[in-house]
Amino acid sequence: MHRIGIAGFGFMGRFHFSAHRKAGLGRVAAVFDVNPKAFEAAATAGNIGTAEADLAGVTLFGDYDKFLAAVDVVDICAPTPLHLDLVLRACAAGKHVLLEKPMALSVADCSAMISAAAGAGVTFMVAHCIRFWPGYDLLIDAARDGRFGRLLTAAFHRISGSAFWSPWFLSEDKSGGAVIDILVHDFDLCRLLGGMPETVDAAGSRDRLGAGTGVNYVHALLRTKAGGPVFAVHGGWVASGKFPFAMSYLAQFEEATLAYDGGREKPLVVYPAKGEPFTPELAAHDGYEGEVRYFMSVLGGVPSRCMPEESRDAVAIGLAARESVRTGAPVRTAV
Ligand SMILES: NC(=O)c1ccc[n+]([C@@H]2O[C@H](COP(=O)([O-])OP(=O)(O)OC[C@H]3O[C@@H](n4cnc5c(N)ncnc54)[C@H](O)[C@@H]3O)[C@@H](O)[C@H]2O)c1
Repeated sequence: MHRIGIAGFGFMGRFHFSAHRKAGLGRVAAVFDVNPKAFEAAATAGNIGTAEADLAGVTLFGDYDKFLAAVDVVDICAPTPLHLDLVLRACAAGKHVLLEKPMALSVADCSAMISAAAGAGVTFMVAHCIRFWPGYDLLIDAARDGRFGRLLTAAFHRISGSAFWSPWFLSEDKSGGAVIDILVHDFDLCRLLGGMPETVDAAGSRDRLGAGTGVNYVHALLRTKAGGPVFAVHGGWVASGKFPFAMSYLAQFEEATLAYDGGREKPLVVYPAKGEPFTPELAAHDGYEGEVRYFMSVLGGVPSRCMPEESRDAVAIGLAARESVRTGAPVRTAV
């Protein structure tokens, strides 16, 4: 059985730990964190719930090289500015790598990771959990197989409060700001569903949460090639008080409307052009379990459901949106 190691044991590290345990496709053998307090059993609260982990039987490391020597698969859940270094060192050690999103904060860093993984012959995937999220996976499948005709347009919303569990998120230099940190999920979907957009036109607010916090809130319009779908992405770290984390989409196909709202008991409703609306039965697992299951199933091969080149494009779209907010003009995207 593959030995899995989690690098960075904060909010996401605990979610991935639990996802691997549920998936059962490898053994979580080790955890690495520079802060020994991270290993304490207290629950870690984030924007999408609370994660806990029972570390009995797991070896705890404060040294990355020793940790690498103890595992076959590295699941990197450290803060975004550390992604490049941790990925390069894992690849150099010949380990398969699953990496939290956003892949990095520059296209050049993303490219360096892709080259390192290819050079080392290891499997490398960015953990874009929304691709594996029940209800979003159905949208992706429908766009691919044409069961509702062609996808014409879609709008994605993702809103989180501005109460943060870790201060580094509030530094644009470290997290990329909300436009990259959380909306990269939706930019990634647009890229998957419609190819690389030709232009990104965005407006939003900068530094509402304080100097240096970056683009906190954005409305972005993504235009694909002529005749392709048009996408709108909206959200950020905006909600006040106890407003709950919210994610939703509305997708218009030629022959159906799909309406997903993560806050509903039955999140997805399909409105076919003919016939009654229906609520498809969705898988019981979440996107974290879905992504680790998939990643573990392609070890040694290529993750065709979530290619690192696409994850790099998602970062490029986020950077274009940020630039468009700054300049007030549409930005052409190119990688
Ligand atoms: N997919 C999602 O839904 C989702 C949600 C939240 C965060 N994320 C992403 O996950 C990553 C981690 O975010 P988080 O919310 O878990 O952050 P966090 O601050 O809660 O946890 C980060 C952990 O990394 C540790 N760390 C710091 N420096 C380290 C180093 N040099 N080596 C190893 N560990 C180190 C910290 O001690 C902390 O325990 C980020 O890239 C973030 O954008 C993804």
